[in-house]
Amino acid sequence: MQTYILPLYSILALLFSMECCFADTVALYDKPMVLSVGMDCCSSQGDKKATACEKCAKKGCMIIKEDGRQKVKAPLGLPNLEVPADNPMTCGKIALGKKLYFDKRLSFDDTVSCATCHDLRLSGTDAGAVSTGINGQKGGRSAPPSINAAYMDTQFWDGRAPTLEEQAKGPPFNPIEMGMPSHDFLVEKLKGIEEYRKCFQKVFGGEITIDNMAKAIAAYERTLLSANSPFDRFRYAGEEDAISELAKVGMGIFVGKGRCITCHQFTASHALFTDNNFHNLGVGMNEEDPDLGRYLVTGKEKDKGAFKTPSLRNIALTAPYMHDGSEHTLEQVVEFYDRGGNPNPNLDGAMMPLNLTPIEEAALVEFMKSLTSSDIPQF
Ligand code: HEC
Ligand code: HEC
Repeated sequence: MQTYILPLYSILALLFSMECCFADTVALYDKPMVLSVGMDCCSSQGDKKATACEKCAKKGCMIIKEDGRQKVKAPLGLPNLEVPADNPMTCGKIALGKKLYFDKRLSFDDTVSCATCHDLRLSGTDAGAVSTGINGQKGGRSAPPSINAAYMDTQFWDGRAPTLEEQAKGPPFNPIEMGMPSHDFLVEKLKGIEEYRKCFQKVFGGEITIDNMAKAIAAYERTLLSANSPFDRFRYAGEEDAISELAKVGMGIFVGKGRCITCHQFTASHALFTDNNFHNLGVGMNEEDPDLGRYLVTGKEKDKGAFKTPSLRNIALTAPYMHDGSEHTLEQVVEFYDRGGNPNPNLDGAMMPLNLTPIEEAALVEFMKSLTSSDIPQF
């Protein structure tokens, strides 16, 4: 039946595209419950009524009300995601955010979009050890996934942005990333694009501002949720055969001898695979002029060389690894942990040699591969 629905929606989307801001989210309406392609509960009525999303929710879509608050319904293995009260999700806002996320015009020379470094096919990362922005300039850190970033208590490897909204205001003005000279410059550029003028007016009831741009992007990012991996089906849906015997051994090591769960946490109800905290594993600390990570934000000695625990969801898709991309494969990461990390004065107390056997190492890697979701968008 869906094959009939799709063209119908596309036609409606075209008819209503003036209303609904951007038709392409609606054109992606082929799998209503696939969360990671972005918001798809958007009806062709767009943002006409604030309740549009709630209506969609009744039809089994993504935005729900729980405990009187707006939340995004999560796939198996993740908790429903809270939406901040000052940036409610509306269909039009999400569609606008998606448009902005993929738009290279947010960069000075129209060559780089958020998606350039946060490619959804790679779980919202790029394939580089560090990212490349305009004019081929290299940054100092690896791009963390934008998928599931909404679950992070703080944004960036060092946690310097408190919210997705704050985070989204950074990259356009970073001279290495998107290179916009000023807020005014970007606002003027966007005002010159009729589509954006209309859509901001419709979604926010006012002119284009950087704050509203960031709100729209953040709303879109809150739809980039991905779970329901073989691990989730095994752990949270009781599907015994969802992961291999070797992966089950690996899970035992993950929570036991390997002590991985100390930082990459999961609970009886869901798995974020992060403690949302900062730890020094010694990554890069053997360099001449090391990146001091969390210390750059807090100025506290103990935070030197500490970085945010990344989630391990879709980890097989996001090589190379660590904040500086210094480990190329999951096998290398496991060897790194087996050694107890890199010695340095602030090494986290949880880091110590693990004495894993080759089979145990292989099992850990197999376990991590079971964290790849099938809902990663293929477009
Ligand atoms: C040139 C590459 C590049 C571009 C363009 C870029 N990013 Fe990033 N992004 C990065 C890197 C590198 C980091 C990590 C930087 C750090 O930790 O200091 C990052 C961090 C993030 C994070 C934090 C994730 C986490 O878990 O901490 C989010 C969210 C994000 N970017 C979203 C965006 C959005 C939205 C845009 C577009 C407005 C964008 N990025 C543009 C490279 C890029
Ligand atoms: C003390 C807390 C801690 C423990 C224990 C720990 N990790 Fe980590 N993990 C981190 C932090 C922090 C990072 C990022 C470090 C950096 O880049 O400087 C990380 C990074 C990773 C990465 C790379 C992720 C990416 O996106 O680049 C993988 C894979 C990983 N850990 C797997 C494991 C496994 C497997 C174990 C158990 C053998 C383990 N971790 C134990 C905190 C921990």
